[in-house]
Amino acid sequence: MSDRFKHKTIAITGGSKGLGLACTRALLDEGARVIVLSRSRGELAPLLEAHTGELFWIATDLADRASVVATFGNIREVCDRIDALVLNAALTAPCAFEELSEQDVLSNLLVNIAGPIYCLQQAAPLMEGGRAIFISSESVDNPVLMLALYASVKAAMETLVKGIRRELYKDRKIQLTILRSGSMEGTAFADHWPQAQREKFFELAASSGTLDETGTPMPIERVVQAVLFILTRPDDAAIHNMDLRSADSF
Ligand SMILES: NC(=O)c1ccc[n+]([C@@H]2O[C@H](COP(=O)([O-])OP(=O)(O)OC[C@H]3O[C@@H](n4cnc5c(N)ncnc54)[C@H](OP(=O)(O)O)[C@@H]3O)[C@@H](O)[C@H]2O)c1
Repeated sequence: MSDRFKHKTIAITGGSKGLGLACTRALLDEGARVIVLSRSRGELAPLLEAHTGELFWIATDLADRASVVATFGNIREVCDRIDALVLNAALTAPCAFEELSEQDVLSNLLVNIAGPIYCLQQAAPLMEGGRAIFISSESVDNPVLMLALYASVKAAMETLVKGIRRELYKDRKIQLTILRSGSMEGTAFADHWPQAQREKFFELAASSGTLDETGTPMPIERVVQAVLFILTRPDDAAIHNMDLRSADSF
């Protein structure tokens, strides 16, 4: 435990489960004040009890711009600046292309790219310096069967970041980083996948060699360490892209 993040306020989307929750825990351990944006409290309850005054959860639906605007209105009431923003929340479910519903398409677009856009627009005026990390996926490089929509939306997010990097730095000295992660163990990402789609996905992933390519899912802490590394770089150093994979991926 250190106090590297003492007096720092970090907002994180999807900090109630999986990678976001693990980042939230690590940041609190290192002295940060953390604001979590998610639809539900998820697994945050014990941390909320243990970190009164340091951890805040604001119910937010990233797919709904009005919800994001209201959340940042609440944030502005309690703090006058944010030191970093971790755009971590995302969702998807594996689906064959011809079976994608309107809801599948809209939820991927709204949560996985519109959400980060809405959040950064609202957070930027509070940031004046600091960093925003966009959590992306190895699937951008290798869009696997049944997850092409998810991969393409993450790719769009990465292109957006490249396109706005100069503007955000020039106007506000905010550094933007894309952190591409390989598969991780212990997250809730596949928890809501319908059983039949899950079985078909893993069957196809095994037979097409995808599982072999992505390797053994990494411990979640590897990605948490990468997030903390990025957030602790000196202001005169940027990390535009980081690509973190399992040791036996190729
Ligand atoms: N898991 C992997 O192997 C893997 C690999 C590469 C990259 N990634 C990326 O890593 C990031 C974290 O994934 P994870 O596996 O930790 O996911 P996870 O365990 O499923 O957690 C997702 C988080 O996002 C929140 N969320 C979902 N929809 C939301 C919405 N509409 N509004 C607000 N919050 C919402 C969830 O909270 P609520 O449901 O309560 O809203 C939850 O806190 C994602 O960007 C993912 O694409 C994951």
